[in-house]
Amino acid sequence: MTDKDLIKLALEAREKAYVPYSNFKVGAALLAKDGTVFTGCNVESASYSPTTCGERTALLKAVSEGYREFDTIAVVGSLEKISFPCGVCRQFLREFGLEIRVIVATSADNYQVRLLKDLLPDSFGPEDLV
Ligand code: THU
Repeated sequence: MTDKDLIKLALEAREKAYVPYSNFKVGAALLAKDGTVFTGCNVESASYSPTTCGERTALLKAVSEGYREFDTIAVVGSLEKISFPCGVCRQFLREFGLEIRVIVATSADNYQVRLLKDLLPDSFGPEDLV
């Protein structure tokens, strides 16, 4: 699975976004360490706060299927300007590893790569619950 292939899966997932309120579609494709990919999109709610981001949808699908080790997540929000994961999604991903690669893209030809630890420095995580 190349970075470009993962971005293409995120773009496909983005088309499934349920966004009647913001009209802002987000798609994510999460690559587990064994090569399995879980996709997700944002799903909004009329009462707003239950809205779930695309990244968290993908992670929830993966963890609920028994996966806990991840290599990379590709995220596509706006197709005009690269958008980065929100703070809640950074924290949610962080639970499963600071070394997760985060690809942010508008297309398979326009993307940037970060490590989660650089997007969420000095973070609080499972190791801190001592
Ligand atoms: N959204 C995501 O899906 N991921 C993010 O990282 C940022 C925001 C969604 C939530 C909402 O449905 C829409 O984008 C506008 O905020």
